[in-house]
Amino acid sequence: MSLSVKDLQKAADEALSAIEGAPDLDALKQVKIEFIGDKSALAKASQSLGTLPQDERAEFGKVVGAQRSKVSSAFEARLLVLEAERDERALVEERVDVTLPGRKILKGGLHPLTILTNEISDLFIGLGYRVAEGPELESEWLNFDALNIPADHPARTMQDTFFVEPLDARLVMRTHTSPVQVRTMLENQPPIYVICPGRTYRADELDATHTPVFSQVEGLVVDRGITMADLKGTLDHFARAMFGPEVKTRLRPSFFPFTEPSAEVDFFFNGRWIEWGGCGMVNQKVLRSAGIDTDIYSGFAFGMGLERTLMVRHGITDMHDIVEGDLRFSQAFGLGAK
Ligand code: PHE
Repeated sequence: MSLSVKDLQKAADEALSAIEGAPDLDALKQVKIEFIGDKSALAKASQSLGTLPQDERAEFGKVVGAQRSKVSSAFEARLLVLEAERDERALVEERVDVTLPGRKILKGGLHPLTILTNEISDLFIGLGYRVAEGPELESEWLNFDALNIPADHPARTMQDTFFVEPLDARLVMRTHTSPVQVRTMLENQPPIYVICPGRTYRADELDATHTPVFSQVEGLVVDRGITMADLKGTLDHFARAMFGPEVKTRLRPSFFPFTEPSAEVDFFFNGRWIEWGGCGMVNQKVLRSAGIDTDIYSGFAFGMGLERTLMVRHGITDMHDIVEGDLRFSQAFGLGAK
């Protein structure tokens, strides 16, 4: 192949304007392949020098050489300019302000209800109790029937129950932690000393003092010679641990199908009596249906709301604070983020 001097000039001019027009380093790289690389017109002209007659070779060679060096120095110059532009942009775009304050990473914390549950568990473990657990989705039989609450008993309608479909599976969201009493007695022989903290469910509207998902702690003791005095002494100890050494408790006669006799337990705090929970001696019918010999054993049980306990102890006036999970609320208990 042979190119005329004019063709060479044209090829070089094209190369120069492509170099000048390359807006960035990527484009310049393409320009290099097309106008300077081995397959470019100028490179090919230089490769073809050997095929020219001797006399033309020197002269044409000079022209090719001159054009190529013009193009390559223009390329080098443009390369420097574009590299400098890139570096400058990087300095601006990737600028790091080392004087900015650092971002604080918040530490996680336990919810106050969890803290309270742990505290109660520790207290009773210290007295030799075990912590028992049961499912929140419970059989209707364990939640009611086994606790001596038959289907037509008013206590069933007193506890607004969430029944779970399919209804013939006879499952409910447990309305109290008392089914864990039955589970424990079915699985263990006395002596039994357990507490069961856990979530419970009743179809209530959420307002300042109610929540459909709440928590209870159940206590159950079955042993030889257990009396109401043991129940009262245990509740006193529990109340003092919760509300301080000065707190008083009282039992008021009440009724639960699964305890006999039954009582409400109140405590005296900040000048008034506050209802805390239910309790009583485990109904002999319940003990017997769990296979426990009532000639030898007797027991007591109690159950109270943890939200109520927390609210009174810490002067919380709105249930929303407990259920809404606002970190600022938990932080006040000292175990949230700082
Ligand atoms: N389970 C009862 C309730 O939720 C409380 C209770 C527990 C009463 C244990 C007596 C004994 O109302």
